[in-house]
Amino acid sequence: MNVHFEGTKVVVTGAASGIGRSMAVGFAREGATVVASDVNQDNLQALQAEMKQEGRHIDIQVCDVSSEEQVASLFEADALQDGLDVLVHCAGFTYFKHFTETTPEEYRRLMDVNLSGTFYCMQVAAAKMRRHGKQGSIIVTSSINAHRTLPSQAVYTSTKAAIESLAQSLAVELGPEQIRVNCLAPGTVATALTNLSEESKQAAGRGIPLGRVAEPEDMVGTALFLSSPLSQYITGSTIIVDGGAMHKR
Ligand SMILES: NC(=O)c1ccc[n+]([C@@H]2O[C@H](COP(=O)([O-])OP(=O)(O)OC[C@H]3O[C@@H](n4cnc5c(N)ncnc54)[C@H](O)[C@@H]3O)[C@@H](O)[C@H]2O)c1
Repeated sequence: MNVHFEGTKVVVTGAASGIGRSMAVGFAREGATVVASDVNQDNLQALQAEMKQEGRHIDIQVCDVSSEEQVASLFEADALQDGLDVLVHCAGFTYFKHFTETTPEEYRRLMDVNLSGTFYCMQVAAAKMRRHGKQGSIIVTSSINAHRTLPSQAVYTSTKAAIESLAQSLAVELGPEQIRVNCLAPGTVATALTNLSEESKQAAGRGIPLGRVAEPEDMVGTALFLSSPLSQYITGSTIIVDGGAMHKR
């Protein structure tokens, strides 16, 4: 099968850092039209400049995914006037805190960004795909923590489990229109979120069958696959990309 992304319109959230940044770069290098969004304008501009040096253009738009209004205007970007083919939703964060010490504000902010932000992006993306009659692909980011948690990650883990559930429900609702919805569930990825020292990166790697923690680029192939006709019969699935970590005691 000949897979190509020229003419494919892609929105990437959380594109200023880590996994989202690699997604924006990866799709742009495959020839897709990319709208990269994040709350961090400086890093978005740096990404745009870096891509320009490669001779590629990406559009950037500041958007806090916890704001319904900002999400609505993100999907009205000029580059998306003819519709949207792919959403790669990576925006998210976490904190390490015992659940008894988590304040209501901290709880609400994590729910607002990770879960409500995912809901708003999926809803607006799906509406746009439907409006333009696109057989689109929606990819949202879960975590192996949705399946196997850690101490001090109760709220984060709950948001990720709920994201998987949302994706499954949307896959059922949008299937008849050939809009596919899937989750990418990374293991440990070396990003600003995990903030691993070289020493802890090496130590974590020893607990993983493939012998290392992931780099953000390790996530891109799965998203390209889930956006392409190679995965045309996959919807409502979670693909775990963790170097085998889930299976090792
Ligand atoms: N790094 C890992 O080990 C790991 C593992 C499993 C899942 N994940 C998930 O992958 C996704 C990306 O994480 P990462 O590791 O690349 O982290 P990262 O911190 O490197 O990047 C996250 C990006 O999201 C942006 N962001 C945060 N809040 C936002 C908001 N309200 N609106 C818009 N953008 C916002 C940040 O500015 C940042 O650029 C997250 O959903 C995270 O939960 C990461």
